[in-house]
Amino acid sequence: MTLTLPAHIHYRDQLLHIEDVALDRLAAEYGTPLFVYSEQSMLDALAAYQRGLAGREHLICYAMKANANLAVLRTLVQAGCGLDIVSGGEMARALAAGVAPAKIIFSGVGKTRQEMRDALGAGIGCFNVESTAELDVLDAVAREMGLRAPVSIRVNPNVDAKTHPYISTGLKDNKFGIAHDDVLRTYQHAAACSGLQVLGIDCHIGSQITETAPYLEAMDRVLDLVESIEAAGVPIHHLDFGGGLGINYQGDTPPAADALWLQLLQRIDARGHGHRKIVIEPGRSLVGNAGVCVTEVVFEKPGAHKNFLIVDAAMNDLPRPAMYQAFHQIVPLRSDLARPAHTWDVVGPVCESGDWLGRDRTLAVQAGDHLAVLSAGAYCMSMASNYNARARAAEVLVHGSQARLVRRRETSADLLQAETGL
Ligand code: LLP
Repeated sequence: MTLTLPAHIHYRDQLLHIEDVALDRLAAEYGTPLFVYSEQSMLDALAAYQRGLAGREHLICYAMKANANLAVLRTLVQAGCGLDIVSGGEMARALAAGVAPAKIIFSGVGKTRQEMRDALGAGIGCFNVESTAELDVLDAVAREMGLRAPVSIRVNPNVDAKTHPYISTGLKDNKFGIAHDDVLRTYQHAAACSGLQVLGIDCHIGSQITETAPYLEAMDRVLDLVESIEAAGVPIHHLDFGGGLGINYQGDTPPAADALWLQLLQRIDARGHGHRKIVIEPGRSLVGNAGVCVTEVVFEKPGAHKNFLIVDAAMNDLPRPAMYQAFHQIVPLRSDLARPAHTWDVVGPVCESGDWLGRDRTLAVQAGDHLAVLSAGAYCMSMASNYNARARAAEVLVHGSQARLVRRRETSADLLQAETGL
C-alpha cells in the first residue's frame, strides 16, 4: 500500500511534521506517548461543512465525545461550532470551553434527572430525546423548574450504515432512537406535554460511514416522518441529521463533507423542506485525521511465529484496535534511519492479548526509535483509560510553527488522589 498521509502531516527533511513542527522535537520535550493535533486540519475539516451548508440556516454541533480536550473544543467553538454533549461531564467541559449554552444539544439514551436539571438551568438549545420514558421525566423536571424543555425526538430509521456493528446505531436492533412506527404517536404525546416544546427531529445512523446512500435513505425516512408529524398538527422547526461521516484510515474513501451536503441539500430541496434549519453533529470527521499519537519503541521481540514491537502506547491510550479491530496507519518519525525492515505486530505493555495497535506492519525501526500512530484525533484520548494504572498521555496542539501543551501528562499521584478510606 502506498503511504498517503493526512493533510498537514508530512515528512520534511526526513522528519515527520505536523504543520511546521517536527514531531521528534515534541517527543523529546514532552515525552511519550504523546497526542499531537493540527489546529489547521480541524479548521479545514470544519470549513468543508461550513461551505456545504453556506446560505442555509444551520448549526454544526461538534460531537465532543470524539475529542473533548478544552483547547480542541475552544478551537472549534471559536470557529462557530456548537457542541453535541452526552453527559453532565461533557456539559461542564462544553461550558468551560466557552460555548454559548443555546448552541449545546444534549444527546444520549440515559440522561439522569440531575443532568436534565443542570442542562435546563444552563439554557441549552435542545434535548435529543430517545424514549417515551425520557420524554416524561424531562417534562416533569421542566415543569418543576417552571420551564419548557426544547426537544427533538431521535428517530431510528432502521437504515444500515454499513459500518462496524459496534458503531452502527440506526438499525432496529440498536438501543438508539424511537422506532419509525412509534414516532408519530411520540410526537403527539410530546406536543401535549406542557413542560416540553417540540423543536425538531433527529437521527444518527452510525459512525465511520463512507457512503452517501445510507444518509439519503435515512433522510428520506426522516422527511416522510416530518410530513406526517406536521400533518398531525405538530410543527417541526429543525432537521438534525447527526454525525457519522467517516475518515480515511486505510484507503477509505468517504465523500467530502461539502460534496455530501450538496447532495443532501438537493434532496431536502427537491422534497420541499429547503426552508428548515439544518443541525448536524459531526465528531470524527472534524478531528480524526488531525491527530497522531507519538510512541517510543521499548523493545524488539522477534520470534519464530511473530515479531513483536513493544511500544510505550497501549490499548488504554488507543483503544480502537482492541475494541473494533480498527486499523490505524503507523509510521516512523524519521525516514532516514538505515534499519532493516521487518514485519511486526506493534503492541503495548498492557497485560492483555488484545493490546495491539497494528498487526503485520512492515517497519524499519528498532528500540529507542519513535513511531506515529495516525488518525488518532478522534475516539483515542477521549476513550483512554487508566487500565494497568497507566497515567494518561499528554496532548499538544500545533498552530503553524507553534506547539503548546494543552494537557499535561497525568502522574501516578493524580491517579491516587481520588481514593479514600484506607
Ligand atoms: N451524534 C450522536 C448521537 C452520536 O452517537 C455520535 C457518535 C455522533 C453524533 C458523532 O459521530 P461521528 O461523526 O464521530 O461518527 N468510539 C467509536 C465511535 C462511536 C461513535 C458514537 N457516537 C469509534 O472509535 O469508532
